[in-house]
Amino acid sequence: MAHTPFNEFLQGDLKTLETNLRDLLDPHLPEKDHLSLLNLACGRGDETGVLAKLLAEKSKSAHLQGLDIRAAEIGQANSRWKKELADVTKNASADFITHRGDRLLDLAEIGTPDIAFLRHQNYWNDKPVWTQIFDQALERLNEDGLLVITSYFDKEHELATAALEKLGAIQVGSIINPNSRALADAPGKSVDKHLAVFRKK
Ligand SMILES: C[S@@+](CC[C@H](N)C(=O)[O-])C[C@H]1O[C@@H](n2cnc3c(N)ncnc32)[C@H](O)[C@@H]1O
Repeated sequence: MAHTPFNEFLQGDLKTLETNLRDLLDPHLPEKDHLSLLNLACGRGDETGVLAKLLAEKSKSAHLQGLDIRAAEIGQANSRWKKELADVTKNASADFITHRGDRLLDLAEIGTPDIAFLRHQNYWNDKPVWTQIFDQALERLNEDGLLVITSYFDKEHELATAALEKLGAIQVGSIINPNSRALADAPGKSVDKHLAVFRKK
């Protein structure tokens, strides 16, 4: 079954994201029987198929937990991926909950994920809240876990990186996407322009 095209650029953006994320994670993500990923501030979770595919390449089974403050987008993510994830891989499951990322420590069921993922992190927009999101994501991660961010523009990436390092995260890899698609309605922003991976310690 073809995946739902939300806009004419989505499939190209996701293909580029897949290539860059594979390159970014490959040296740092060991093969494991089971891998878990927490997709924080995931919105509609368009990248769920890409993430599931990458995890399935490194594990026998995987679980993706998405979380966002916006209930409508979480509803869309749940209904879409309940139907479509099996077309990508039979070895991964996904579910999505409406919750604040800065209240992550309230959610015991999140466990200790192997990867915390934040696509188009929004640190620039609300530094105190996003400092909490980063801090709690690092706390939740398992001891060998990886925190991955992508960013729309240079300055917000620089600020988010500095904030994560101040919280004790260590950057172990980064990619600047030379073919990042510029957003016509948001001058200076482009899709997944920067990617970076951090270790907890
Ligand atoms: C720039 S969007 C990125 C959405 C998605 N990751 C993507 O790449 O399309 C930022 C997201 O952060 C979410 N968000 C903002 N504050 C949040 C919070 N305190 N907890 C969880 N999500 C939050 C918004 O609802 C929005 O979906």
